[in-house]
Amino acid sequence: MSKKIAILTSGGDCAGLNAVMRAAVMRADLLGWEVIGIENGTAGLLEDPVEVRTLTPDDFDGFILRRGGTILGTTNSRDPFAYEMPDGSVKDRSDEVIAGFKALGVEAFIGIGGDGSFAILNRLAKQGGLNFIGVPKTIDNDLMMTDFCVGFDTAVSVATEALDRLQPTAASHDRVMILEVMGRDAGHIALSAGIAGGADVILIPEILYTIEGIAKKIKAVKETGRNFALMVVSEAMSAPDGEKREVVYHGGETRYGGIAEYLCPRIAEATGFETRATVLGHVQRGGQPTYNDRLLAQALGVGAVDLVNDGAFGQMVAWHNRAVVGVPIEDAIKDVRTVRPHGTLVHTARSLGISFGD
Ligand code: F6P
Repeated sequence: MSKKIAILTSGGDCAGLNAVMRAAVMRADLLGWEVIGIENGTAGLLEDPVEVRTLTPDDFDGFILRRGGTILGTTNSRDPFAYEMPDGSVKDRSDEVIAGFKALGVEAFIGIGGDGSFAILNRLAKQGGLNFIGVPKTIDNDLMMTDFCVGFDTAVSVATEALDRLQPTAASHDRVMILEVMGRDAGHIALSAGIAGGADVILIPEILYTIEGIAKKIKAVKETGRNFALMVVSEAMSAPDGEKREVVYHGGETRYGGIAEYLCPRIAEATGFETRATVLGHVQRGGQPTYNDRLLAQALGVGAVDLVNDGAFGQMVAWHNRAVVGVPIEDAIKDVRTVRPHGTLVHTARSLGISFGD
């Protein structure tokens, strides 16, 4: 095996992915490793010819560090174990992907991904006897064993800025503004942005709410003489009766969405406030990474190559107690890290008078 590492981005994109790659390539160059970038996640290995390219420090000018998205491309819908073929059939193409990795002649591969991607990449690694290192990225911040994932800080900053922009228009029109944010089954984005952005109500999947609970808080706000209120709602919130709010996309894929629109007339009716809904969507994933995400991304990118150099495979490079550490990949994905309903941030929010609608 020559000193070669493959690197790929997998799953939904977020800000900071290019910064991870830049740091990994620069560290690899220092340690004498060649880096091969695979395009569009593992899907690049299924193309003929394979979609790969050598990455060197020269490929990363000063601009790419600041750029959102991923220069390699990514996908969150082409699982090699259940690959949807053009004719609609589903095929296990894992052996083809493994053969693709082997043909590259790499010692190891670095996958920048979230829990879903890591489960797939780890399974591929085991099946094919490949050496794998994971770098945690997801705006949802829901991986175990790391304090933060790349992309989360930027998403929270975008959501906080949205609240900053909603507040003056809410105050001008005597309105309740409902901001729906991403995060899948974890309420981290809603909780952090809600506290930072001065929300009155935060709804997260980890805490049950009622319309009456929300209305009670908003009426209390009104009684203080304030003419507006701000709410942040996690996309995964169900209606109070448990009915999921989902959007069905072309091809039948479903994603969370629609809870803000659902709540809008109900909050208006329960409070007498005119109410409007804003769905922030993919804006949270794009744009320039914040400085925190750039720092994290680059520390983890360097750390991932260090693990490869040490031969410490099967690990995720994590940020823990202000340091980069390696943790077993299986520990990182054995569960989804959701908000602790009695944790520090919920306590902080409640102490600030923020309601969770409960
Ligand atoms: O996991 C990241 C995420 O942005 C979630 O917060 C969101 O539910 C989902 O991906 C959206 O997926 P897509 O980009 O396929 O619409």
